[in-house]
Amino acid sequence: MLQERWTAVDGYIGAHLVPTDPVLDAVLRVSADAGLPPISVSPAQGKLLHVLARAQGARSILEIGTLGGYSAIWLGRALPPGGRLMTLEAEPRHAEVARANLARAGLTDVAEVRPGPAQDTLRRLHAAGDGPFDLIFIDADKPGYPDYLSWSLRLSRPGTMIVADNVVRDGAVADSASTDANVLGVRRYIEMMAAEPRISATVIQTVGSKGYDGFALAVVLAGS
Ligand code: SAH
Ligand code: DHB
Ligand code: MG
Repeated sequence: MLQERWTAVDGYIGAHLVPTDPVLDAVLRVSADAGLPPISVSPAQGKLLHVLARAQGARSILEIGTLGGYSAIWLGRALPPGGRLMTLEAEPRHAEVARANLARAGLTDVAEVRPGPAQDTLRRLHAAGDGPFDLIFIDADKPGYPDYLSWSLRLSRPGTMIVADNVVRDGAVADSASTDANVLGVRRYIEMMAAEPRISATVIQTVGSKGYDGFALAVVLAGS
């Protein structure tokens, strides 16, 4: 019952604020046909990422967890001319589908899909002196989130925004007895944010077509 209402309201929000987009429709269709799981951010959440990137004036964006490129397209479309998006994906097939989808969106020259486990790519990016990024979106394996936060901080500057998906997990995040590796990952992520003097952070709980979940939002502070 609640889920039906959340989905209906997502439909209403989408109808008004997230115009039907043949490219994004095709991206979801092609991704489903290729057998990718239907776990992209929702349209309203994609628009949220887009609004945040615009508010941030982001010129360089890092995404960890590409899937078929749906959220990458929302983020890539927020960039000004000359802006860059790098997105990290462990599954070669996902990376391949995402590249085709980013091409479909006209973002080939803007977005680069880096294949391989994000932990390795992040280490290499840092060693190569890449960054700092203006906005970082973390949405890969949840047990990896604490490590992704550490690398994100190294690839940040004061003012960088670090956003993470799926941190509420149907409320399971508040269960201190949980033994679920995903819950443990997001709980450690939140505890790390709390203990990190270089950032100011909060979590916004969300409901909608993807159920009950949440986004963690953090900003890297001046002087860091
Ligand atoms: N951000 C996407 C959804 C990402 S789903 C969107 O909203 O459209 C999570 C993705 O992270 C999957 O494609 C999965 O293959 C990838 N992933 C999981 N573990 C990873 C790792 N260690 N390194 C990089 N990508 C990983
Ligand atoms: C899963 C991953 C996600 O990033 C998400 O938004 C929803 C589900 C998953 O791995 O099941
Ligand atoms: Mg997610």
